Amino acid sequence: MDPKSNPNEHIQLLLDEHEEILTHINELADWTEQLKEKGFPKFGELGTRVKSFRDLLAKHFKNEEQEGYFKPIFDESPGCCIMVPDFHKKHAESLCNIDNFIARLKESEHPFQSWDEALKQFDALLIDLRAHENQEIKMVQEAFKQSPS
Ligand SMILES: [Fe+2]
Ligand SMILES: [Fe+2]
Repeated sequence: MDPKSNPNEHIQLLLDEHEEILTHINELADWTEQLKEKGFPKFGELGTRVKSFRDLLAKHFKNEEQEGYFKPIFDESPGCCIMVPDFHKKHAESLCNIDNFIARLKESEHPFQSWDEALKQFDALLIDLRAHENQEIKMVQEAFKQSPS
């Protein structure tokens, strides 16, 4: 068996999982875009959707923080290791922001000035997450390009 085939498979797995997360982000962004057009507040449904996305994301972050998940990438491109502490901090921050947002959606008197304001804040969360995931995809692809396979 080609010793390189496993790292390559692993890299593909990483890219697939990121693709999945980005697809969810895009679906949520499309859904909120439709809500914006209708102007019809759906705080409860937004909360439910954000919560299930939050759980998926938490699982993804946990995978990333685990020893071995990014390891083949670091083996190919040791400079990436420097980024690990930043990831941990970024993951914790992102989950905290999402949790705060969910908690605010649940309050009986929503602390948002308007439904539009809630959607705007949610958009900002999605933009931030998309940037983080894209940064990771770029890192994986760069390391993959550099690998002498
Ligand atoms: Fe991450
Ligand atoms: Fe990621």
